[in-house]
Amino acid sequence: MRDLMSLAERKEIISLAGGFPDTASFPREVFEDVTSAIAGEHLASALQYGPTEGSRELRERIVQIMAHERATATADEIMITTGGQQGINLSVGTFVDPGEAVIAEGPTYPGAVPVFTTHEAHVVHIPVDEDGMRVELVEPTLDRLAAEGRPVKLLYTIPNFHNPAGVTMSEERRRMLIDIAHRRELMIVEDNPYGQVRFDGEPLPSLYELDNGEGWVIYVSTFSKILSPGLRVGWVAAPPPVLRQMNLGKQAGDLCTGTFDQRFILEYMRRYDWRDHVARLNQIYRKRRDALLTALEEEFPATATWTRPRGGLFVWATLPKMIDTKDLLPRALDRDVAFVPGGAAFLDGTGANNMRLNFSQNPPDVITEGVRRLGEVIREMMEIYEDLGGGR
Ligand SMILES: Cc1ncc(COP(=O)(O)O)c(C=O)c1O
Repeated sequence: MRDLMSLAERKEIISLAGGFPDTASFPREVFEDVTSAIAGEHLASALQYGPTEGSRELRERIVQIMAHERATATADEIMITTGGQQGINLSVGTFVDPGEAVIAEGPTYPGAVPVFTTHEAHVVHIPVDEDGMRVELVEPTLDRLAAEGRPVKLLYTIPNFHNPAGVTMSEERRRMLIDIAHRRELMIVEDNPYGQVRFDGEPLPSLYELDNGEGWVIYVSTFSKILSPGLRVGWVAAPPPVLRQMNLGKQAGDLCTGTFDQRFILEYMRRYDWRDHVARLNQIYRKRRDALLTALEEEFPATATWTRPRGGLFVWATLPKMIDTKDLLPRALDRDVAFVPGGAAFLDGTGANNMRLNFSQNPPDVITEGVRRLGEVIREMMEIYEDLGGGR
């Protein structure tokens, strides 16, 4: 999978595979202004080690970002991490010993899969529908696993504009999930990188907010999708005892998040309104999402289905059962187009006939051409199966 994905980096390939935000739209003059302010006023500290928990002023600014996501926190509840990825890794590392159970959506974030496998978690998937994780299945799953002697340590969820499924958890389900967490003493990791990448509608209350200070939610987010993933800055908000353990884990991992990266974000936020850039990105992404959905209507077989996300970066497509997208990928790469096969988003071997398609990285005409090529290889593969006798 990694080998195939590195092929997808080739220049001639139309990649619908990555989760890359459009960094080209970040204004050059803003970049120059921010970096020259750092050079003029903060050179020594921007090149120096910093505290493990991160810059205090940046944490205070993060409090304001979280308020836009209907999540109330104080700077003391926040630790800056090296991307949201480190927040997920520290959450799992803090709670999960080898063989212990974790619940996650099926599909789940492909980048969380190596985190779970590194910590030897036993991952149990809960399916999603258009209202996100099917929370009514969580308690029966807890009961089943308890009966098997496998108490669940964590539940990992991406409630907003799920990667890869593109769906958002309804408010009713959020309330149900928090009720379960409180009654069953279940720790929840709420991963929210896409809450601001919203094309319409208003934010729903976060799980962190609905927990109401009871201490059963770790909130993970990032500047990757609202500013830059090259600046490796994310954060966690967590109850103080959990945060202390995560701080120890981070000391072991990297001592502190890059101080230049933190400084860049801070100086940017001091001078500019980050919401303007997010609004600009969302306008670009909305057009690209529309181009992808239109191309899918025109190019994919009538038997395929896909999600229609109202935010985030991905569409999740389901192809006829006969098609294994892992086998489709090398054929697609031969035509210079890439996607993520669905199996990468599961730890139980399912998802073979699914694919994740990204719409943030390419302009509309390139997306249209990419989907045209994909449609061609899918049709060819379906013909081969039909010639072989309908995939029997
Ligand atoms: C659901 C989810 N969580 C976490 C991340 C990690 O992002 P980063 O480490 O760049 O903050 C991503 C990136 O694509 C993601 O999609």
